[in-house]
Parts: sequence; structure tokens; C-alpha cells
Amino acid sequence: MKHLIDPMDLTKEETDEIISLAEDIIAHRERYQGSMSHRKLATLFYEPSTRTRLSFTSAMMELGGSVLGFSDAKNSSVSKGETVQDTVRVVGCFAEVIAMRHYIEGAQLYASEVSPVPIINAGDGSHSHPTQTLTDLLTIKRELGRIDGITIGFCGDLRFGRTVHSLIKALSRYRNVEVILIAPDALKLPDYIKHDVCDKCGVKYREVETMEEVMPELDVLYMTRVQKERFLDEDEFDRVKDSFVLDARRMALAKKNMAVLHPLPRVNEILTEVDSDPRAAYFRQVENGKFVREALILKLHEWKNDPAHPMPEHDRPVFDSSVRCTNSKCICNNEHAPYKFHYTDGGQLRCWYCDSKVR
Ligand code: NCD
Repeated sequence: MKHLIDPMDLTKEETDEIISLAEDIIAHRERYQGSMSHRKLATLFYEPSTRTRLSFTSAMMELGGSVLGFSDAKNSSVSKGETVQDTVRVVGCFAEVIAMRHYIEGAQLYASEVSPVPIINAGDGSHSHPTQTLTDLLTIKRELGRIDGITIGFCGDLRFGRTVHSLIKALSRYRNVEVILIAPDALKLPDYIKHDVCDKCGVKYREVETMEEVMPELDVLYMTRVQKERFLDEDEFDRVKDSFVLDARRMALAKKNMAVLHPLPRVNEILTEVDSDPRAAYFRQVENGKFVREALILKLHEWKNDPAHPMPEHDRPVFDSSVRCTNSKCICNNEHAPYKFHYTDGGQLRCWYCDSKVR
């Protein structure tokens, strides 16, 4: 069965097919109305959300389907101690597809191992957010007319920002994409993205400390919020919370057709004076998120039992009882998921569920 847990669960062709379908939906909305009638989407949100949950809801409604679920797991049997695996087994009896957000990393991957219906990862901790990635790719394509050959600056919280991790993975399959990482030391991109994704796929990247020095080169500036809820130490958050602020003065340094993206919500990293600049694409990006989720729901439904669209072959899991994943926010340290690992091409042992380095 085809799930979407990680952007790489889709092939490049499948990703492009979803983006093209979203463009067709935008051009011919009426053609798709009713195409999911009598079908149900469940949204299981264990963590706050505005855009992601409501865009899934709106997408399913546009397609003529219905939506059920919860936006606060405290009101569900989770508060009685039900596991994510049991929850999806149950909800899979009521809906044809499940979109799930969880603060625990790897929760959706673990849930997908037993789910009777496709699972869509709507964000797992600071790990991945593949539907935001589809939104971002569609937005880049619509703003610039291409994805190949862009220079993109990621600015802000590259350490905990799951949208950044997933978008870099997806961009690694496009031609000549150059990535510039703009972050203070404490918010740098995790090593597994730099090595297992950028180095492995030949993505050119460099790390800088100020926006100003790279602004004129960028085709896309991807701003992010510092993820307060992921910090274990509040003082550490206070030290970095206002690291980068985009204002009209900095926008003046950029190309005339640069696009500013932000997954939103913003806190204070983009001043409202930037909103009226035609290059500010973040509210258009929100709307693209609805269309791309419509396309994703249609495609996952179509591919559900199609052998031509399998889940990718992952390397075989390694079970080693002498090692443990040390990430306290990983599913294997929160529910009884097995300690399972995989070897990277560079010979490193990483957690199967959250990608943390184990050895
Ligand atoms: C992002 C998320 O939840 O990771 N928001 C979103 O889904 N559009 C970004 C964030 O919360 O900062």
C-alpha cells in the first residue's frame, strides 16, 4: 500500500504527477468536484495545526468527500493509553485515508506498519513534513516556472524545522539545485540531511551566518519560525529566537523575481511590511497547499492497490539489541516500537523511525 511518510516514499515521477494534477485542479476545479464523494478522510492531530489540518479538510470537501477525526488527542482514547498502531487499526475501519500529525518522531511510520488504509504524515516532531514539501514544490513551480536550477536559501531554524528537512530531500532529485543554509550554530541543519542527502545526491550547499551576504543570489528565500516547542532548554531558545528578521531593507537586496516562502505560522521573522511586496509568496503558498492535498488524496486513492506504485524498497532493517535509539522523542522510546535500525551508504547506523545517529 502507498503511504506518504517521507518525501522519498514518492518517486520523482510520482511527485511531479501530483504537482501536475494540482495545477490541473487549479485550472479546472469543477472537473474534480465529487470525485471523492461518499469517501472519508480521517485527520488525527496529536499536535496543534491550523493550515495543515484545515487544508486537508477543505481539500477533501472540495472533492465531495467527508472528514472525521480529532484535533486534540486528549479527547480521544489516546488519553486512556491507546497506542498509535491501535488507533489507526480502528480509524482505518471508518475512513479510506488517514492524515496524522504527531509530536513523536516516527509515529506515522510505526502506525503505517499495521494500517489498513494509506497514512499521510502531516508532520512528525522535528523530523519530516512531506505534504508541506509538495506545497512548497508547487509554489516554487508556480512562482518561478521551474524547480530545476534554483538557488534556495533556508533561513532560521534548520535544526528543528521539519519542513526544511523534507524540502531539501525532495529538492535533491531536481537538477542543479543549490542550497544555502542561513542559521546560527545552535540551529544548524542536522548532519543526516547534510551527509545522507546533500553529499549523497551531489547537492551543492554552503552554510552562512547572515542573510545579507547571500540575498542577491537567491531565487527562493525559505524563512522559518524558531520551533519553541522543540527546545528542551528555554534559555537556549531565548538566545536564538530573534536570529533573523526579514524586512523591506533586506528585501531591497534581493532579485526582482525572488520568491519568499514560509510554511507559516510566522512569529516575528517576517515583518508585516514585507506582505505587500509581490515577491512575498507565503499566503499564495497556503492556498497551493489545499490544491496539492486534493491531488495527493486522489493519487493515493488511485495507487492504493496498484502494484505499479509500491512503497520504495528500504534497506533491510537491522535488529541489534546491544544498541538503543537515544532520541527521547522517537516512537521507539515512547511506545513499544522495536529498536530497529538501518545502515547508511557511509556505514552509519541510524534509527529506522527517526534517523538519529546511533553509531
Ligand atoms: C509548519 C509545521 O507544522 O512544521 N507549519 C505548517 O505545517 N504549515 C511550520 C511551523 O510550525 O513552524
